Amino acid sequence: MNPAPKTAAPRAALNPLNHIPAQILCAQDYEFLARQFIAGPSYAYIAGGSEHDITAEANLRAFAEGCVQPRLLCDVRDAHTRLNLAGLDLPHPLLLAPVAFQKLVHPAGELETARAAAAMQSVLAVSTLASQPLESVASVPGVYAWFQLYFQPDRAVTLDLLQRASAAGYRAILLTLDASIQVPSFRAHRAGFVMPEHCRPENLAGYPAVTASQPATGESRIFQGVMRHAPRWDDLAWLQAQTDLPIWVKGVLHPDDAVALRERGVSGLVVSNHGGRTLDGAPASLSVLPAIRKAEGDDYPVMLDSGIRSGMDVFKAIALGADAVMIGRLQVYALAVAGALGVAHMLKLLREELEICMAMSGCANLQAVRQTRLFPSPIE
Ligand SMILES: Cc1cc2nc3c(=O)[nH]c(=O)nc-3n(C[C@H](O)[C@H](O)[C@H](O)COP(=O)(O)O)c2cc1C
Repeated sequence: MNPAPKTAAPRAALNPLNHIPAQILCAQDYEFLARQFIAGPSYAYIAGGSEHDITAEANLRAFAEGCVQPRLLCDVRDAHTRLNLAGLDLPHPLLLAPVAFQKLVHPAGELETARAAAAMQSVLAVSTLASQPLESVASVPGVYAWFQLYFQPDRAVTLDLLQRASAAGYRAILLTLDASIQVPSFRAHRAGFVMPEHCRPENLAGYPAVTASQPATGESRIFQGVMRHAPRWDDLAWLQAQTDLPIWVKGVLHPDDAVALRERGVSGLVVSNHGGRTLDGAPASLSVLPAIRKAEGDDYPVMLDSGIRSGMDVFKAIALGADAVMIGRLQVYALAVAGALGVAHMLKLLREELEICMAMSGCANLQAVRQTRLFPSPIE
């Protein structure tokens, strides 16, 4: 007879449901419930930030700081969450951030997320590293999609991705510039995470394999190795010359970069630290947002992501200067729990949570939220 095991075997991850579980009372509940639906190492990969999670945790703390001050006797019967974002009319300010490898949590991956985006009239940013081909995601009925572009070491490959996105009907390019170096997640590493075979960057299949630059003896692995192919300002100018699509830049944290990007004709910015997954020790996105808004003036399109877990977080981001927000991890957690239905439900909950904050603070529209001061106010 075998001796009894000393520890219980880890529970297998559950398959996505085709209904919304009764435990979900708010958008953030998807984060907690997702632990039952995502295998432990994969959960660590998704939830983790880079290295020690310093920035990932700072993102959450930043949202906990300011309060929304209630107002009395306000008439919000005609209130709404509509906005015009760089010419695009949207019913609410909740966009879906690019999140790679979604087949990690759902067999249909990005296709399900696209269905939810279409149902909720949200914009979906599809990652260069999506686990479904960009053409398949764009063909989901009713989806309005942007293509998230990572510069590839070979300009011909970058150009081909751009042309494929344009031909497939993507409406804008979301150029992510903060991830030239893939900083490891210690949390994912310690959990033993390895990307499974079925979860591949489908958009890059068929291009010649890239051989990593080997620095010569005495050269730096980072400066002369990894950073050799990292994009620079002239690459941005080159990209702008290749397409008529609007280009947004994601990963902005410094007001000087924000101003330089606007001056070079970039259509809008996403203030983001990649959910704490790039430079560990970078500031919380929310904490740099007021300075970036101030540098850009009131009218330039600025979004924010990193750390949003509730409608109140969305309210705070808008009060501190964002026109709209992008939702990262909550999207994957909801996808894991209940597929397209879960993602759509998560967006509905976030919107309703935002509306509660607006109603109770007397804000009849998002312009009013932009003019609200949080308590205590971090702004002069
Ligand atoms: C698992 C995972 C994969 C991601 N993949 C990408 C990607 O391919 N491209 C990109 O620009 N950002 C990527 N991000 C960052 C998100 O777009 C977004 O900036 C971040 O998740 C926002 O923080 P939040 O998760 O706290 O909402 C990824 C984030 C996660 C969690």
